[in-house]
Amino acid sequence: MATLHAALDGGVNFFDTADVYGDGRSERLLAKLKKERKEKFYIATKAGRRLRMQTTEGYNRKNLTAFVHRSLKNLKTDTIDLLQLHCPPTEVYYRPEVFGVLDDLVKAGKLRHYGVSVERIEEALKAIEFPNVQSVQIIFNIFRQRPAELLFAEAQKRKVGILARVPLASGLLSGKMSRLSKFAKDDHRNFNRHGEAFDRGETFSGIDFETGLSAVERLKKLVPSGASLAQLALRWILEFPAVTCAIPGAKRPAQLVDNIAASDLPPLAKASLKKIANIYEGQIKPLVHQHW
Ligand SMILES: NC(=O)c1ccc[n+]([C@@H]2O[C@H](COP(=O)([O-])OP(=O)(O)OC[C@H]3O[C@@H](n4cnc5c(N)ncnc54)[C@H](OP(=O)(O)O)[C@@H]3O)[C@@H](O)[C@H]2O)c1
Repeated sequence: MATLHAALDGGVNFFDTADVYGDGRSERLLAKLKKERKEKFYIATKAGRRLRMQTTEGYNRKNLTAFVHRSLKNLKTDTIDLLQLHCPPTEVYYRPEVFGVLDDLVKAGKLRHYGVSVERIEEALKAIEFPNVQSVQIIFNIFRQRPAELLFAEAQKRKVGILARVPLASGLLSGKMSRLSKFAKDDHRNFNRHGEAFDRGETFSGIDFETGLSAVERLKKLVPSGASLAQLALRWILEFPAVTCAIPGAKRPAQLVDNIAASDLPPLAKASLKKIANIYEGQIKPLVHQHW
């Protein structure tokens, strides 16, 4: 709650959550925030991961409607600002009827807008062919640059928003990690490094931890004076006009304060952008570019 309050204090007016985060607790905390504060803010949530098995058939009217009703209850609201399909199987993007269900939920006033959260660019490109998809959430950061190649232009053409998730490559791009870093048992950075539980790309953006650490050492030299590496990483994302919002996962008020200051940094120097591009091209691209 302290981090959420600090966010509003710092001018944040948009939060990304999901019905499965803390099994609804994350949504309920945002409802509590709404009660405690007067400022207007917007909430994006997600649906689909409550399915026991990720099957295309699971994304049907009955299930989606039930998930939405549960989120409405958790969020203590009549209308969800933005509902995102939560990384469904690729085939869902070839099923217009799924998007028809979402259209009906908009007509019924349950959703204001809907969008998608995807693993792969190809899924995003397919999703934005549906005219009412308003946003795409996708991993985009210094270690995951392919979305900028084609997707961003296509999204801009259709006025579709881009939410850049995992902007700090799970904290790696904060520069605080080392070979000795330890993570809690229930932390995906401990158990999903090779995709054991869900898509490998979600953890450290899918790059090998030690390779990431070595690239981070080179990035540290490019941090503008008075700024942090996390701020450099977030400012880099904001250089792309197609990006609506980066959604770093701050755990504590201090991290939040650090992260939001990135939006007040001046644009990065051209020379720094070039060096970042070189680090990506040389060290990271060969390992990840073709995967996502
Ligand atoms: N499938 C999906 O749709 C999906 C999947 C993943 C994430 N998301 C969304 O994307 C958001 C961001 O993802 P994420 O939290 O996994 O990745 P992230 O923003 O790249 O990394 C967040 C982690 O970095 C550390 N951190 C954050 N700010 C910091 C700072 N200023 N200095 C030092 N360390 C900092 C924290 O870890 P420590 O514990 O080390 O402090 C935090 O847990 C999530 O909150 C969620 O809303 C969506």
